[in-house]
Amino acid sequence: MYLELKNINKKYGDYKASDDVNIQIEKGSLVALLGPSGSGKTTILRMIAGLETPDSGDIIIDGVRVNDIAPAERGIGFVFQNYALFRYMTVYDNIAFGLELKKVKKSDIRKRVNELIELTGLKGLEHRYPNQLSGGQRQRVAFARALAPNPSLLLLDEPFAAIDAKVRKELRSWLREMIYKVGITSIFVTHDQEEAVEVADEIIVTNKGRVEQIGDPVSIYKEPETPFVSEFIGQSTLIKNYYKLKGFEQGDYIGAIVRPEFVEAFKRDNSDFADVIDSSEVGTVTDILFRGNSLEVRLDVNGIELTTHRSLERRPIYIGEKLRVIVYRLFAVDEHRAYLLENTELQKKGFKDRRLDTYIYNENKYVVI
Ligand SMILES: Nc1ncnc2c1ncn2[C@@H]1O[C@H](COP(=O)(O)OP(=O)(O)OP(=O)(O)O)[C@@H](O)[C@H]1O
Ligand SMILES: [Mg+2]
Repeated sequence: MYLELKNINKKYGDYKASDDVNIQIEKGSLVALLGPSGSGKTTILRMIAGLETPDSGDIIIDGVRVNDIAPAERGIGFVFQNYALFRYMTVYDNIAFGLELKKVKKSDIRKRVNELIELTGLKGLEHRYPNQLSGGQRQRVAFARALAPNPSLLLLDEPFAAIDAKVRKELRSWLREMIYKVGITSIFVTHDQEEAVEVADEIIVTNKGRVEQIGDPVSIYKEPETPFVSEFIGQSTLIKNYYKLKGFEQGDYIGAIVRPEFVEAFKRDNSDFADVIDSSEVGTVTDILFRGNSLEVRLDVNGIELTTHRSLERRPIYIGEKLRVIVYRLFAVDEHRAYLLENTELQKKGFKDRRLDTYIYNENKYVVI
């Protein structure tokens, strides 16, 4: 393991910002710390960097306990949430800053800065000041500046927070590519699950100072272990009376999370679903939202509100229309854990939906087989 956090606790007054945090990160991996605002993500990064001291627990980097080692000696690059570029310094000087501090030879500084300018695609902008750059360009400078002293661990705190949606998407894949090129172990903080799923090899989900779950994006998505993770990922809401849906029985649960992709809604004359028509419910379309590449359809099924996505290639539907609805599966939750429940009626019929995909990791991305 390259980085280990062992039983880390940190309080601010009475508030537990880190509550027995245990994390292990392998060398060369790109890890996302994902969680809602105030869940303790920045606190974790700051303790790794040495900008904050844990009340108890060990931080180990490459086999060495670093609790008592000064931030500058830890070999860490940090990209802050608000870039924190020096306003009165050019792009060149911003990137050179850390090297100047270390009193690196001028000629070596020039070589390294030019290398990074080349790598991050900032050529031609060397002499500009931060206010003459776009948000995306500034973020690249912050990234280059953090990499300049050749750190062995890179920490990025919401690197895309201040950037608009489209550029943000481009920067995500840019960052991923850069990090793989440089081969540096990196942790980035985000509260955007889509971002975490798209960029990271591994996701650490935080909530109220605790680590809820650690896993690769697919397992976090498909096998949430706790009520919090099942609700936070996929942004679904808790349905209390889920057992009124056909194929599910009441258990010792407080409710269930039904993701849109667990729900199929079809027109009553659709023969593809003839075998399961008696296992379906009638749902009324209450709202239709255009989501660019699909429709988000809200349905009322006996007072239970469900959401599904509908391809634009399928036949049009309208608000008020009654559709047949089946729920393939859901995550039932108790106080502590989430449990995947399959629709027993559909299972008895041997009905297989097309969504029990298997994913494999290939050339840095997940493909469905
Ligand atoms: N210096 C401090 N003094 C007192 N409380 C603090 C301090 N720093 C953080 N906290 C509290 O600790 C908790 C965790 O804060 P932290 O900044 O780690 O959250 P976060 O997950 O990074 O949130 P965000 O997504 O909003 O950046 C919050 O409730 C915050 O108010
Ligand atoms: Mg934060």
